[in-house]
Amino acid sequence: MESCAYPVFIGAGLLGDARVLRPFVEGGVAMLVSNETVAPLFADRVRGLLGDCRVHMVNLPDGERHKTLDSMARIINALAENRCGRDATVIALGGGVVGDVAGFAAACYQRGAGLVQIPTTLLAQVDAAVGGKTGVNHAAGKNLIGAFYQPKCVIADSDTLHSLDQRELRAGLAEVIKYGLIRDAGFFAWLEENMEKLLRRDSDALARAIGQSCRHKAAVVAADEKENTAAGGRALLNLGHTFAHAMEAALDYRALLHGEAVAVGLLMAADLSRRMGWLGDGAVARIERIIGEAGLPASPPAAMTVEKFLRFMPMDKKSRGGKMRLVLLEEIGRARVVADHDADGLRATLRAFTAERRGGV
Ligand code: NAD
Ligand code: GLY
Repeated sequence: MESCAYPVFIGAGLLGDARVLRPFVEGGVAMLVSNETVAPLFADRVRGLLGDCRVHMVNLPDGERHKTLDSMARIINALAENRCGRDATVIALGGGVVGDVAGFAAACYQRGAGLVQIPTTLLAQVDAAVGGKTGVNHAAGKNLIGAFYQPKCVIADSDTLHSLDQRELRAGLAEVIKYGLIRDAGFFAWLEENMEKLLRRDSDALARAIGQSCRHKAAVVAADEKENTAAGGRALLNLGHTFAHAMEAALDYRALLHGEAVAVGLLMAADLSRRMGWLGDGAVARIERIIGEAGLPASPPAAMTVEKFLRFMPMDKKSRGGKMRLVLLEEIGRARVVADHDADGLRATLRAFTAERRGGV
């Protein structure tokens, strides 16, 4: 698919390599979008790669709570005020929040400016920056407003991960584990063996995890760019996300990092898969063990209730005809999208993972 074909550069030291970025800023005008945390770390290096370009900059406030239409409007305003044309290139420098907002602004400005993704978190390097989903949150739900819009290239410099908080690194591992669960049992087993190395940022282990994750993401997106395949396709990348997005939105994007919410969602999807009679106890135990070893949370925050899950889960973008669709596991390495999940089973999973089970704590 033509629109899906672009290079994803992965490696250490890429932000010191003058060859990677400049060729993708075709009009010679760049709008560098970052945030108050990431810009002081890497913006000068990116500017250094842009040589002769006219470079403008927008610095967003940091955090998922700022993944909003207001932030997107700031980028659009900066593009317009600086009289940028459609041949300008928006460069998203940061984690998934910056990447999603800046990508959406690029998709909308003059119906499509250029876009380059420079992800600086593990989560963004293995998932958010690749595949062209862009967007912002709405009070009614996560990522409710957005567009599919592919970048010209992705530059994932693994050296940028050195400054990443350990909690953020763990959050990124949730999405890495997800790829093993949905389509690669061998990779899942490798992650079980190598979790300790990943947590201490062994560069070879990280390179393999990032590379393998990006290969999986690219293959899935190339086959179903706009998530149209009813039986699965791109929607499989959403394993655990219906639960995760509900938690994030219900708790106003404050209680959990996205990757942490995904980790809990993976466990909830595994639990429901077991209740459906698909996944055995041994497989569920392996999933619980790897999430624990990655230092990720195993249950929702106490403020999450069954009622809150049931209010926000139907807002999921996979819903069709008002019916929720969930991604569940047939085994480790094989997932399926289901519309006919067992409603009693779902309630039992929600009860088992919320305060009701713990006596209303
Ligand atoms: P994030 O963008 O909030 O980044 C996490 C934190 O790390 C932030 O405080 C950020 O400023 C900081 N940071 C970033 N790079 C750093 C570095 N190198 N050193 C030190 N600090 C650094 O969160 P995230 O986990 O990267 O992304 C989560 C977002 O991505 C969510 O909004 C989620 O919905 C989205 N997402 C999108 C897709 C997609 O396909 N578009 C896929 C997965 C997730
Ligand atoms: N992270 C889910 C997707 O890109 O489809």
